[in-house]
Formats: sequence, C-alpha cells, structure tokens
Amino acid sequence: MRLKRKDLLGIEDLKAEEIELILSTAESFKEVSTREIKKVPTLRGKTVINLFYEPSTRTRTSFEIAAKRMSADAVNISVSTSSVVKGETLKDTAKNLEAMKPDCIVVRHSSSGTPHMLANYVGCSVVNAGDGAHEHPSQALLDMLTVRERKGKIAGLKIAIIGDIAHSRVARSNIYGFTKLGAEVMVAGPPTMMPAGIEGLGCRATTDMDTALRGADVIMMLRIQLERQKESFFPTVREYSMVYGLDEAKLKKAKEDVIILHPGPINRGVEISSEVADGPYSLILDQVTNGVAVRMAIFYLLLGAAREEAR
Ligand code: CP
Repeated sequence: MRLKRKDLLGIEDLKAEEIELILSTAESFKEVSTREIKKVPTLRGKTVINLFYEPSTRTRTSFEIAAKRMSADAVNISVSTSSVVKGETLKDTAKNLEAMKPDCIVVRHSSSGTPHMLANYVGCSVVNAGDGAHEHPSQALLDMLTVRERKGKIAGLKIAIIGDIAHSRVARSNIYGFTKLGAEVMVAGPPTMMPAGIEGLGCRATTDMDTALRGADVIMMLRIQLERQKESFFPTVREYSMVYGLDEAKLKKAKEDVIILHPGPINRGVEISSEVADGPYSLILDQVTNGVAVRMAIFYLLLGAAREEAR
C-alpha cells in the first residue's frame, strides 16, 4: 500500500482510508525506535530537506530523526542564515533546492498556503509542517495515533479542543481528522478566538468550558499563540487562565478515564497547569514519541512504499 499522492499538504485533502493507512504504518514503525540500533534501510539514497521559516523544536527534530531512522539523508536549512534573508523568493529558493535533487521538502511557514505553492514549483514531494493558521497535518496524525493507541478506537469518542481556535492550525487539522474517523469534536474558547463558520468543518462550538469538558474522552489544550495575534483577544492572561486554563479542579468535570493532549510548546500556568500537564492523564510526551513514528510513515508512504512493492 502507498499514498497515491505526491505531497502531504493537509488533512482536509485526505480520505479516511488514507489516514488509517498512515496510522497503521506508523504503528508498525514504532518498534524501530525501541531497538538498540534505531535504523531501517528503507529510504537509503533518499534526501529530505527541512525548510523551516518558523521556529520549531518537536516537528523539525522529529522529521529529521524520522528521516535518519529510515536511512535517508536529512538536511536542515536555517532560514535565518540562508539566502532568504537576502530577499530570495520562495520560488527561487524552491527551484534552487530542486536543482540539488532532493526527494522531499518538509516546509513550515507563517503564511497559509505556502506548502501548496511550493508543491507546484517542485517535482519532489512536499510535506506541510505547519502553514500559518491553516493546517499542521503531521501533528493531527500523531494526535490521532496517540488517541487510538490509548483508547483502542477513535469513532464515537468525544474530543474537546480548547483554546485559541481561530489561530490554531492544530485545531483545524484535528477537526478534519477526528471527524473523518467518526469522532464527535467540540471546540471551546473565548468568542474572540472562535472563527465564524467553524461548525462548517463538522464540529460543534461552545464558549463554555464546562460544556466542552463534560463527557469528554479526550481533552486537547491549545497553546495561546501570542505571536499570531495582532491585538489582544482577552483582557489579561490571568483571566484567560481562570476561565479556559485546565487545572485539577476543572479536570474533575471530565470522564474518569479522560486523556489530555497538548501539541506543545506549553505555556505552563496559562492554558494548562503544571499539575495537569505532568499528571497521570497527560499523554503529552507520548504525542512527541508518536511524532517520530508518524513522520517515518509519511516518508515511507510518499517516498519508499512504491520501491518496496516493486521488489
Ligand atoms: N507541535 C509543534 O508543532 O511543536 P514545534 O513548534 O516545537 O514544532
């Protein structure tokens, strides 16, 4: 089996069967990271370029580790020390990178749609590692893997996504993904952070934290992204935290076997307390572990599966 597509640009484009294929492939790759020698030869001879125009710890590192565990060569371009700072356009950067014959470019950019433009400029695969407030598909895939692993299923679960819905590419990708797999998604946050028409993506929306928490199987807390806000959307961080921050008192309203996710980086004491982030319901570090397996699966299904099948 392989993904019959050149690029992975968003969850919106994927069919449920494609999501299931990526998740089951990722499950099979998890074991590689537990070996003493954490490497398989599958993508030997392939070259992956990480082109990140925005900061990243988890996504960039795990794409690099995933490529290396598959025996691909991974190159990281630091935009701040590249010719981008001299004014080179995305198209020129893309064409020059393509001239070096990579097999895949992983791109993160502050502008929505940049990976889609890049995919039109180059013949190699392009993977979206987060574009503006649009999508973060590999994050949603690792979130779905983490939930499926712990709960044994996704269909029928109530997923509460809480926080800055308007600025969150993680929220959008997860709404698409979880609803395609049959979960019931409810988003919650202040009215100023709730985009008009969000229910058109297939979720329900509320401004009431208790409504979101009640009966939730999964609580996904979102980071307050102050860097994407041109103005303040709430009076003070303290007030935001009092109403929408997840602490042990609010957690009592959720199901007894609830699990808690957060894409990171965490603003401790703002959207989530340290007691909850580090507590027994939190799967935040499991998400990071699953990020490597999901990104190995993405590379395999875009770059490697056809070669394996042809043997
Ligand atoms: N979840 C996530 O995208 O984290 P980074 O910004 O560290 O990559």
